[in-house]
Amino acid sequence: AITPVILCGGSGTRLWPVSRKSYPKQFARLVDDTSLFQATAERLSGSACFTKPVVVTNSDFRFVVTEQLSAIGIDPGAILIEPEGRNTAPAVLAAALHLSRKDPEAAMLVAPSDHRIPDRESFRAAVENGRAALEQGKLVLFGIHPDRPETGYGYLELDLANAGPATTPLKRFVEKPDAETAAKMLAQGGFLWNAGIFLFRVKDILAAFERYAPGLLAPVSAAVDQAEVDLGFLRLAPGPWSEAEDISIDYAVMEKSDALEVVPFDSGWSDLGGWDAIWRELEQDENGVVCSEGATAIDCEGSMLRTGSEAIEIVGIGLKDVIAVAMNDAVLVASKDRAQDVKLAVDALKKKG
Ligand code: GDD
Ligand code: MG
Repeated sequence: AITPVILCGGSGTRLWPVSRKSYPKQFARLVDDTSLFQATAERLSGSACFTKPVVVTNSDFRFVVTEQLSAIGIDPGAILIEPEGRNTAPAVLAAALHLSRKDPEAAMLVAPSDHRIPDRESFRAAVENGRAALEQGKLVLFGIHPDRPETGYGYLELDLANAGPATTPLKRFVEKPDAETAAKMLAQGGFLWNAGIFLFRVKDILAAFERYAPGLLAPVSAAVDQAEVDLGFLRLAPGPWSEAEDISIDYAVMEKSDALEVVPFDSGWSDLGGWDAIWRELEQDENGVVCSEGATAIDCEGSMLRTGSEAIEIVGIGLKDVIAVAMNDAVLVASKDRAQDVKLAVDALKKKG
C-alpha cells in the first residue's frame, strides 16, 4: 500500500482576502462544499491501495487540520508539525525519514493540497500506472497537458523515444521558467506541466536527497529524531529545523534527478493558484460572469463577484474582466489579468502592519 503524504503548510497569498495567514486557501471552501485539503484527503482514502495519510503542516494550522479531517471521518496516520515553513523539500524529507523508521521499502505519494482533481477514479488509475516505475526505483511525476505558457509551474520534457506503456521517462525538469522559455516549450511541444504530485519509495527519495541535497539531511534528520509528541502531533525540533534550507523539492531534487518518469494525467486538474483560476473553474453564465450568493452583476462580462460575508451585498455594473471579493474586514477589486499580483498587495499590507 502507498502512504499519502499531504502537504498543507503553504500560505496561498494570491487568494487574499479569502485565504488568510491563519486560514489559507487549502482550508477554505473555494469551489466545492469541502475544502481543497478535505478533497485531497478523500481522494487518497477509502481504497485498499492507500494507508492512513501523513499530514505535514505548520503549527498554526494543526487544529484546522484535525477538525477538517474528523469532519470527513478520516483518521490521520501522523501529523508532522513544522516549527516554521521551510518549503516543500524539508517537508517531504521529514515525512520520508519518519516513514523510513517503520519501512524504507514503503511507497509514498506526495500530494499538495491546493489542487482540484474532480475525477477520483481516473486519478487512482494514474497512480496505479506509476507502480511499475516505482518498483524500479524511479521518482514518478504526473503530467498535465499544458494549454498556456504558465510561468508558475514546472515543465516536464518527455523522452518520447523511450516511452513505455504506462510511463514516459523525462529528458529534463524545468521549474518555473520565465515567460519566454515557457512560450518556447509550449510551441515546441513534447512538454507537460508538473502536477506537483510525486510517487516514490521512501528509500529512493532518501537516496535522491543524499545525492542532490545532502545539506538538508543533517538538520532534518535531527529535527525528526528530536521531535516531540504533543497531543498526538509530532512536533519537529525547532533548533535543527531552522537550519534546513528553505527550498522546494522541485529545485532541490527534481531538476537534478535523472530517474524521473511521468504518468500523463488528462482527466481534469487545476491548481487554484489565483482568482483567475477560480473564475475559470466555476460555472460561468453566458457572459462569462460568476456571482456568489449575495452578489449581483448588471451588464458585466468575464468577471467574478463574490461575497464571503452575510453582511455585505456586492453589485457590479458594466464591469469587464474584473474580480471583486468581499469579506467582513477586507475587499479586493482587481483587474482579472492582474490576479497574480494579489500576492504583491498582501506583501504591501504586511509592511504596513
Ligand atoms: N507542509 C508544508 N510546508 N507544505 C508546504 C510548504 C511548507 O513549507 N510550502 C508549500 N507547501 C504546500 C502548499 O500548501 C501546497 O499544497 C504544496 O506544498 C505546493 O507548494 P506551492 O508553494 O503551492 O508550490 P507551487 O504551486 O509554487 O509549485 C509546485 O506546484 C506546481 C503545480 O501546482 C511545483 O511542484 C511546480 O513544479 C508545479 O507545477
Ligand atoms: Mg501551488
